[in-house]
Amino acid sequence: MSEGLRVFITGATSGMGLLLAQRYLDAGAAVGTCSVEDKAAVVDRLPEGLDYTQADVTDAAATRTAIEGFAKRVGGLDVLVANAGISMPKAAFPDFERGRLVMNVNLMGTINSFEPAMEIMRRQGSGQLVALGSISGITGMPGMAFYGASKAAVMHFCESLAADLKDSGIDVTVVAPGFVATPLTAENPHKMPFLISSEQAVERIYSAIVKRRTRVVFPWPMALLAGVLYHLPRNLYIRLMRIDLLGLRSSE
Ligand SMILES: NC(=O)c1ccc[n+]([C@@H]2O[C@H](COP(=O)([O-])OP(=O)(O)OC[C@H]3O[C@@H](n4cnc5c(N)ncnc54)[C@H](OP(=O)(O)O)[C@@H]3O)[C@@H](O)[C@H]2O)c1
Repeated sequence: MSEGLRVFITGATSGMGLLLAQRYLDAGAAVGTCSVEDKAAVVDRLPEGLDYTQADVTDAAATRTAIEGFAKRVGGLDVLVANAGISMPKAAFPDFERGRLVMNVNLMGTINSFEPAMEIMRRQGSGQLVALGSISGITGMPGMAFYGASKAAVMHFCESLAADLKDSGIDVTVVAPGFVATPLTAENPHKMPFLISSEQAVERIYSAIVKRRTRVVFPWPMALLAGVLYHLPRNLYIRLMRIDLLGLRSSE
């Protein structure tokens, strides 16, 4: 189904991005990626055929060069996945310097990737912009002030764009996983309710993209829980979070 597609996934040197890149390569797509690291540092873990450019997604010009360069090499761009992201160690008092970086990579990185991709897709009259949100973007959770805010912003950004681009031939998809076992969560000292494997997550992401869904939240027990929590009266919700209902502060 993805044979011949031209797909660029930011941050496909690890975790879900790497598995998604492999999934598309197996299906016969041309796949490109970028990350902050020098090519020599990542080449051993990249699948054969993955087109790599060094580019930090917080650098708009470098991200543009990477995406436009890939599109030029393969003759266009059908799918852009803004996947690159970083997390934030939990602390009662967050480290604001790290917080700024989280906002820059997760939110500005998505914006910096969407801009050149949307321009290419606009010229083509077709394409799909995809971003990684998170269930932590649905409702404010303990220890996730910056990470959750970055993902909430990404999800709002995508939903607005999905409406704005409706007649352009460009679809917008935002995927919001709960906890997924990847290098990003490997060091998490707290509980991770309804944790799923990166293979399970990538199947859900791939299927959401192929079906051109606007918004997909999984796994369903975590999606249901976040949906219920979101609709609680806010005072009650904050009280539940303060008693650490989900065990998200368990190691502090
Ligand atoms: N794991 C979860 O539970 C979970 C849940 C919901 C959403 N997500 C989101 O899913 C996405 C993928 O996460 P993951 O768990 O697969 O994480 P991961 O294994 O840590 O992979 C993150 C990728 O992003 C790249 N990256 C980081 N900073 C970058 C930058 N400034 N510029 C370019 N690339 C950069 C990393 O490259 P380097 O290694 O070279 O730095 C790596 O390839 C992220 O957006 C994350 O927030 C994850």
